[in-house]
Amino acid sequence: MRITMIGSGYVGLVSGTCFAEFGHEVTCVDKDESKIQSLSKGIIPIYEPGLETLIRKNVDNNRLKFTTDIKTAIGTADVIYIAVGTPSRRGDGHADLSYVYEVAEEIGRSLKKHAVIATKSTVPVGTGQKIMTCLNKINPLLETDVVSNPEFLREGSAIEDFMNPDRVIIGASSERAKEIMKELYRPLISREVPVLFTNLETAELIKYASNAFLATKIAFINEIADLCEKCNADIQSVSKGMGMDKRIGEKFLHAGPGYGGSCFPKDTLALTATAKEFLSSVSIVEAVVQSNNQRKQSMAHRIIKAMQEDINQKTIAILGVTFKPNTDDMRESPSLDIIPVLQSKGAKINIFDPQGQKEGINLLPGVKWCQDPYAAMQNADSAVIITEWPEFSALNLARMKESLKHPLIIDLRNIYQPEEMEKAGFTYYSIGRTSVRPIIPSIIKAA
Ligand code: UDX
Repeated sequence: MRITMIGSGYVGLVSGTCFAEFGHEVTCVDKDESKIQSLSKGIIPIYEPGLETLIRKNVDNNRLKFTTDIKTAIGTADVIYIAVGTPSRRGDGHADLSYVYEVAEEIGRSLKKHAVIATKSTVPVGTGQKIMTCLNKINPLLETDVVSNPEFLREGSAIEDFMNPDRVIIGASSERAKEIMKELYRPLISREVPVLFTNLETAELIKYASNAFLATKIAFINEIADLCEKCNADIQSVSKGMGMDKRIGEKFLHAGPGYGGSCFPKDTLALTATAKEFLSSVSIVEAVVQSNNQRKQSMAHRIIKAMQEDINQKTIAILGVTFKPNTDDMRESPSLDIIPVLQSKGAKINIFDPQGQKEGINLLPGVKWCQDPYAAMQNADSAVIITEWPEFSALNLARMKESLKHPLIIDLRNIYQPEEMEKAGFTYYSIGRTSVRPIIPSIIKAA
């Protein structure tokens, strides 16, 4: 099948490449000339494990092409994916759909035969119908099927998520569209990956509801972690004990500095905006958005407190600034909330992140970027772990202690064991766990 993927950002690039790997002929389109030129040479603009190799392989096999010529790419396709960005609109939190409709109009002008138009971009309920109306208006004779096929890719494991998904969701109304989509996903269907067919609106909502639910799990466990610190409980064991209940599940119960990234913050906000539009209440999601914003803010104060409220002219080594490991993405990363607060109180910031510098350099002014974690910790007054890059768990504790001026670690991702850190001579603060020096609240003391 011939597939045109419009938008060669994160989602379009991963999905297009994986469809080529299935054996389809894929053309990825983007209006950014320099991006397309680099991609044609096998140079990829993002860090995603395994992607570069897969792109090169499929370009070499002539199954994957890159172009800026949207008209030609639309003209020949059996399935046209819309995978452009839907950023948060300033002011009201709604998803900005201007790129989506721009593409829909171009499809209306350039398409000459039947094709399935599928949205991969995360679009609010009702967008598929509006795309249909737009296509009809531009060319009433055009025969198309509009389909919603949301993605559930996690940055850092996107290829694995695409190739081995928990499910494929397809919102389609006509039998013809369903058959085409089945053909497209045949390699997964033959491996018995579950495919759920729904109407357009349902598929659109499944995406938002899934992301909002996962965000809720994280915000929930973060609040429970705060409670753990006050009542001498241990969040790691609480998460484990909860996760053993199959109805709850163990995933996304890892307490930390708050969720970030390109999806959860934007999609939770957009869901609250959609609900308002439909005069429906999503007070739980509203509370989650608020709780997560507060959490990110409160992390800086946690660091300041651990440093005895005195960080003026002190050097703080930050390990990890991306919103999660195995990505270079800094969007909505907790580090962007935490570091400016520390700087505003006079702290000097050294940063090491295995991939974050390229994006971070413009987002975090006035910091010193270091080439390895020990260089960042050299003579620093404390070290703060914001992102749990796997290599940080294997750092040499003796060397860390030697590098730091004071052996103080504030671990916002719980990558070390408190006992081990105590034994190694560190003052160690983490999240939701009995710290080296347990804080016994007055209520327990009195009892
Ligand atoms: C997410 C969804 O998982 C994916 O299905 C969707 O398509 C896009 O959004 P992604 O943003 O890549 O994927 O990252 P994810 O692994 O979900 O993590 C999101 C944020 O939550 C990160 O900041 C991460 O650190 C945080 N998180 C995740 C936690 O704090 N605790 C957890 O237990 C899990």
